[in-house]
Amino acid sequence: MKFEVMTTDQIAARIADLLEEQLKQKPDSVLGMTTGSSPIKYGIFQEWIRREEAGELDFAGATFVNPDELIGIAPDHPESYYTFMQEHLFQHLRTKRGAAHIPDGSAADLEQECKRFDQVLRDLQFVDWQLMGLGLNGHIAFIEPADSIPVTTYVADIYEQNRPSGSVHFSTPEEVPSRTITIGLEAVMKSRSIVLVAAGANKADIVAEAFQGPVTTRVPASLLQLHPNVTVILDEGSAKRL
Ligand code: GLP
Repeated sequence: MKFEVMTTDQIAARIADLLEEQLKQKPDSVLGMTTGSSPIKYGIFQEWIRREEAGELDFAGATFVNPDELIGIAPDHPESYYTFMQEHLFQHLRTKRGAAHIPDGSAADLEQECKRFDQVLRDLQFVDWQLMGLGLNGHIAFIEPADSIPVTTYVADIYEQNRPSGSVHFSTPEEVPSRTITIGLEAVMKSRSIVLVAAGANKADIVAEAFQGPVTTRVPASLLQLHPNVTVILDEGSAKRL
Protein backbone atom coordinates (compact mmCIF):
# COMPACT_ATOMS: atom_id res chain seq x y z
CA MET A 1 0.00 0.00 0.00
CA LYS A 2 1.12 3.51 -0.70
CA PHE A 3 0.38 6.22 1.85
CA GLU A 4 0.27 9.89 0.94
CA VAL A 5 -0.14 12.46 3.70
CA MET A 6 -1.23 15.98 2.81
CA THR A 7 -3.26 18.91 4.05
CA THR A 8 -7.01 18.60 3.60
CA ASP A 9 -7.02 21.33 0.96
CA GLN A 10 -4.58 19.32 -1.18
CA ILE A 11 -6.75 16.19 -1.25
CA ALA A 12 -9.06 17.14 -4.11
CA ALA A 13 -6.22 18.16 -6.44
CA ARG A 14 -4.20 15.02 -5.69
CA ILE A 15 -7.13 12.72 -6.38
CA ALA A 16 -8.01 14.62 -9.54
CA ASP A 17 -4.37 14.24 -10.69
CA LEU A 18 -4.59 10.48 -10.16
CA LEU A 19 -7.88 10.34 -12.05
CA GLU A 20 -6.45 12.42 -14.87
CA GLU A 21 -3.53 9.98 -15.22
CA GLN A 22 -5.98 7.07 -15.26
CA LEU A 23 -8.18 8.61 -17.96
CA LYS A 24 -5.16 9.54 -20.09
CA GLN A 25 -3.94 5.95 -19.96
CA LYS A 26 -7.39 4.48 -20.49
CA PRO A 27 -10.08 6.91 -21.68
CA ASP A 28 -12.73 4.19 -21.48
CA SER A 29 -12.02 3.43 -17.83
CA VAL A 30 -14.65 2.01 -15.52
CA LEU A 31 -14.62 4.42 -12.58
CA GLY A 32 -15.85 3.20 -9.20
CA MET A 33 -17.45 5.92 -7.11
CA THR A 34 -18.12 6.40 -3.42
CA THR A 35 -20.71 8.21 -1.34
CA GLY A 36 -20.25 9.39 2.26
CA SER A 37 -19.24 12.88 3.31
CA SER A 38 -15.60 12.89 2.18
CA PRO A 39 -16.16 13.53 -1.56
CA ILE A 40 -18.10 16.65 -0.62
CA LYS A 41 -16.18 17.80 2.45
CA TYR A 42 -12.87 17.77 0.62
CA GLY A 43 -14.26 19.09 -2.67
CA ILE A 44 -13.29 15.94 -4.60
CA PHE A 45 -16.25 15.90 -7.01
CA GLN A 46 -16.19 19.67 -7.32
CA GLU A 47 -12.61 19.52 -8.54
CA TRP A 48 -13.58 16.95 -11.21
CA ILE A 49 -16.42 19.21 -12.37
CA ARG A 50 -14.05 22.19 -12.51
CA ARG A 51 -11.39 20.27 -14.42
CA GLU A 52 -13.92 18.91 -16.87
CA GLU A 53 -15.08 22.45 -17.58
CA ALA A 54 -11.45 23.52 -18.01
CA GLY A 55 -10.92 20.69 -20.51
CA GLU A 56 -8.45 18.89 -18.24
CA LEU A 57 -10.59 15.86 -17.47
CA ASP A 58 -12.49 14.02 -20.17
CA PHE A 59 -15.21 11.64 -19.02
CA ALA A 60 -16.60 11.03 -22.52
CA GLY A 61 -15.46 7.42 -22.68
CA ALA A 62 -15.79 6.55 -19.00
CA THR A 63 -18.37 4.40 -17.26
CA PHE A 64 -19.35 5.10 -13.66
CA VAL A 65 -20.23 2.42 -11.13
CA ASN A 66 -21.31 2.80 -7.50
CA PRO A 67 -20.65 -0.13 -5.18
CA ASP A 68 -23.64 0.15 -2.85
CA GLU A 69 -27.16 1.42 -2.30
CA LEU A 70 -29.58 1.65 0.63
CA ILE A 71 -32.42 -0.88 0.63
CA GLY A 72 -36.07 0.09 0.87
CA ILE A 73 -35.99 3.49 -0.79
CA ALA A 74 -36.57 4.35 -4.44
CA PRO A 75 -33.72 5.67 -6.57
CA ASP A 76 -35.32 9.13 -6.62
CA HIS A 77 -35.59 9.29 -2.80
CA PRO A 78 -33.56 12.26 -1.48
CA GLU A 79 -31.39 9.94 0.65
CA SER A 80 -30.60 7.34 -2.01
CA TYR A 81 -27.03 7.02 -3.24
CA TYR A 82 -28.44 7.34 -6.76
CA THR A 83 -29.74 10.82 -5.83
CA PHE A 84 -26.46 11.65 -4.08
CA MET A 85 -24.46 10.89 -7.22
CA GLN A 86 -26.84 12.84 -9.45
CA GLU A 87 -26.83 15.88 -7.18
CA HIS A 88 -23.16 16.03 -6.39
CA LEU A 89 -21.59 14.81 -9.61
CA PHE A 90 -23.48 13.50 -12.61
CA GLN A 91 -25.86 16.40 -13.22
CA HIS A 92 -22.91 18.80 -13.18
CA LEU A 93 -20.81 16.94 -15.72
CA ARG A 94 -20.87 18.21 -19.26
CA THR A 95 -20.63 14.69 -20.54
CA LYS A 96 -24.05 13.27 -19.82
CA ARG A 97 -23.43 9.69 -18.86
CA GLY A 98 -25.80 7.07 -20.11
CA ALA A 99 -23.51 4.61 -18.43
CA ALA A 100 -23.75 4.97 -14.64
CA HIS A 101 -24.51 1.80 -12.76
CA ILE A 102 -25.75 1.48 -9.21
CA PRO A 103 -27.63 -1.31 -7.45
CA ASP A 104 -31.39 -0.76 -7.12
CA GLY A 105 -32.29 -0.80 -3.42
CA SER A 106 -35.99 -0.76 -4.23
CA ALA A 107 -35.94 -3.99 -6.25
CA ALA A 108 -38.68 -6.43 -5.23
CA ASP A 109 -36.33 -9.41 -5.55
CA LEU A 110 -33.08 -8.39 -3.86
CA GLU A 111 -31.31 -11.65 -4.55
CA GLN A 112 -32.04 -11.20 -8.23
CA GLU A 113 -30.83 -7.60 -8.05
CA CYS A 114 -27.52 -8.73 -6.52
CA LYS A 115 -27.11 -11.21 -9.38
CA ARG A 116 -27.98 -8.56 -11.98
CA PHE A 117 -25.41 -6.18 -10.51
CA ASP A 118 -22.73 -8.88 -10.49
CA GLN A 119 -23.44 -9.49 -14.15
CA VAL A 120 -23.04 -5.74 -14.83
CA LEU A 121 -19.66 -5.83 -13.07
CA ARG A 122 -18.58 -8.92 -14.95
CA ASP A 123 -19.66 -7.45 -18.29
CA LEU A 124 -17.57 -4.36 -17.51
CA GLN A 125 -14.68 -6.61 -16.46
CA PHE A 126 -14.84 -4.93 -13.07
CA VAL A 127 -13.55 -1.50 -12.11
CA ASP A 128 -10.34 0.13 -13.36
CA TRP A 129 -10.10 2.91 -10.81
CA GLN A 130 -12.03 2.80 -7.54
CA LEU A 131 -12.42 5.81 -5.25
CA MET A 132 -13.19 4.68 -1.71
CA GLY A 133 -13.95 6.08 1.69
CA LEU A 134 -13.37 4.46 5.06
CA GLY A 135 -16.13 4.00 7.62
CA LEU A 136 -15.27 4.60 11.27
CA ASN A 137 -15.90 0.90 11.94
CA GLY A 138 -13.58 -0.09 9.10
CA HIS A 139 -16.17 -0.64 6.41
CA ILE A 140 -15.42 -0.10 2.74
CA ALA A 141 -18.27 0.31 0.24
CA PHE A 142 -20.96 -1.08 2.61
CA ILE A 143 -19.04 -4.19 3.56
CA GLU A 144 -19.62 -4.05 7.29
CA PRO A 145 -17.47 -5.94 9.83
CA ALA A 146 -18.56 -9.60 10.04
CA ASP A 147 -17.18 -13.07 10.66
CA SER A 148 -17.12 -13.71 6.94
CA ILE A 149 -17.63 -11.58 3.86
CA PRO A 150 -19.37 -12.81 0.70
CA VAL A 151 -17.48 -12.92 -2.56
CA THR A 152 -20.29 -11.56 -4.71
CA THR A 153 -22.77 -8.70 -4.28
CA TYR A 154 -24.96 -9.21 -1.21
CA VAL A 155 -27.46 -7.73 1.21
CA ALA A 156 -25.73 -6.47 4.36
CA ASP A 157 -27.16 -5.27 7.66
CA ILE A 158 -26.05 -1.74 8.35
CA TYR A 159 -24.48 -1.16 11.76
CA GLU A 160 -26.80 0.98 13.85
CA GLN A 161 -24.36 3.92 13.94
CA ASN A 162 -24.11 3.93 10.14
CA ARG A 163 -27.84 4.19 9.43
CA PRO A 164 -28.76 7.61 8.02
CA SER A 165 -30.85 8.31 11.13
CA GLY A 166 -30.14 12.02 11.30
CA SER A 167 -31.90 12.64 7.99
CA VAL A 168 -34.98 14.85 7.85
CA HIS A 169 -36.18 12.75 4.93
CA PHE A 170 -37.35 9.88 7.12
CA SER A 171 -40.38 10.63 9.25
CA THR A 172 -40.25 7.51 11.45
CA PRO A 173 -37.27 5.49 12.76
CA GLU A 174 -38.63 2.42 10.89
CA GLU A 175 -38.27 4.21 7.56
CA VAL A 176 -34.52 4.64 8.04
CA PRO A 177 -32.84 1.94 5.95
CA SER A 178 -31.22 -0.81 7.97
CA ARG A 179 -29.91 -2.84 5.05
CA THR A 180 -27.83 -2.18 1.98
CA ILE A 181 -26.85 -3.89 -1.25
CA THR A 182 -23.09 -3.88 -1.50
CA ILE A 183 -20.41 -5.35 -3.67
CA GLY A 184 -18.52 -8.28 -2.15
CA LEU A 185 -14.86 -9.15 -2.02
CA GLU A 186 -14.45 -10.17 -5.63
CA ALA A 187 -15.34 -6.70 -6.91
CA VAL A 188 -13.03 -5.06 -4.37
CA MET A 189 -10.10 -7.31 -5.17
CA LYS A 190 -10.63 -7.15 -8.94
CA SER A 191 -10.57 -3.34 -8.98
CA ARG A 192 -7.33 -2.65 -10.82
CA SER A 193 -6.45 0.33 -8.67
CA ILE A 194 -7.98 1.75 -5.51
CA VAL A 195 -7.66 5.26 -4.14
CA LEU A 196 -8.92 5.40 -0.58
CA VAL A 197 -9.43 8.74 1.13
CA ALA A 198 -9.57 8.92 4.92
CA ALA A 199 -9.02 12.30 6.53
CA GLY A 200 -9.68 13.83 9.92
CA ALA A 201 -8.37 13.00 13.40
CA ASN A 202 -11.45 10.85 14.12
CA LYS A 203 -10.14 8.36 11.52
CA ALA A 204 -6.66 7.99 13.09
CA ASP A 205 -7.50 4.86 15.10
CA ILE A 206 -9.27 3.01 12.32
CA VAL A 207 -6.56 3.95 9.78
CA ALA A 208 -3.88 2.42 12.03
CA GLU A 209 -6.00 -0.62 12.80
CA ALA A 210 -6.97 -1.26 9.19
CA PHE A 211 -3.62 -0.74 7.52
CA GLN A 212 -1.14 -1.78 10.19
CA GLY A 213 -3.19 -4.24 12.19
CA PRO A 214 -4.03 -7.85 11.34
CA VAL A 215 -5.98 -8.63 8.18
CA THR A 216 -9.46 -9.57 9.36
CA THR A 217 -13.04 -9.50 8.08
CA ARG A 218 -13.83 -7.73 11.39
CA VAL A 219 -12.08 -4.70 9.87
CA PRO A 220 -13.03 -4.97 6.19
CA ALA A 221 -10.60 -2.23 5.08
CA SER A 222 -7.71 -4.37 6.42
CA LEU A 223 -8.34 -6.74 3.49
CA LEU A 224 -6.94 -4.00 1.25
CA GLN A 225 -3.51 -4.93 2.64
CA LEU A 226 -3.79 -7.93 0.30
CA HIS A 227 -4.56 -5.79 -2.76
CA PRO A 228 -1.60 -4.99 -5.03
CA ASN A 229 -2.52 -1.43 -5.98
CA VAL A 230 -3.94 0.78 -3.23
CA THR A 231 -3.12 4.43 -2.61
CA VAL A 232 -4.30 5.76 0.74
CA ILE A 233 -4.77 9.52 0.93
CA LEU A 234 -4.50 10.82 4.49
CA ASP A 235 -4.19 14.13 6.29
CA GLU A 236 -2.05 14.75 9.35
CA GLY A 237 -4.97 14.02 11.65
CA SER A 238 -5.78 10.58 10.21
CA ALA A 239 -2.09 9.65 9.73
CA LYS A 240 -1.01 10.46 13.27
CA ARG A 241 -1.00 6.86 14.55
CA LEU A 242 0.87 5.34 11.60
C1 GLP B 1 -20.74 5.51 3.69
C2 GLP B 1 -20.46 4.77 2.40
C3 GLP B 1 -19.04 4.26 2.39
C4 GLP B 1 -18.07 5.34 2.74
C5 GLP B 1 -18.37 5.84 4.12
C6 GLP B 1 -17.35 6.87 4.58
O1 GLP B 1 -21.01 4.63 4.72
N1 GLP B 1 -21.35 3.67 2.16
O2 GLP B 1 -18.74 3.74 1.12
O3 GLP B 1 -16.78 4.85 2.70
O4 GLP B 1 -19.67 6.37 4.09
O5 GLP B 1 -17.95 8.04 4.94
P1 GLP B 1 -17.28 9.42 5.22
O6 GLP B 1 -16.57 9.88 4.01
O7 GLP B 1 -18.47 10.25 5.55
O8 GLP B 1 -16.39 9.22 6.40
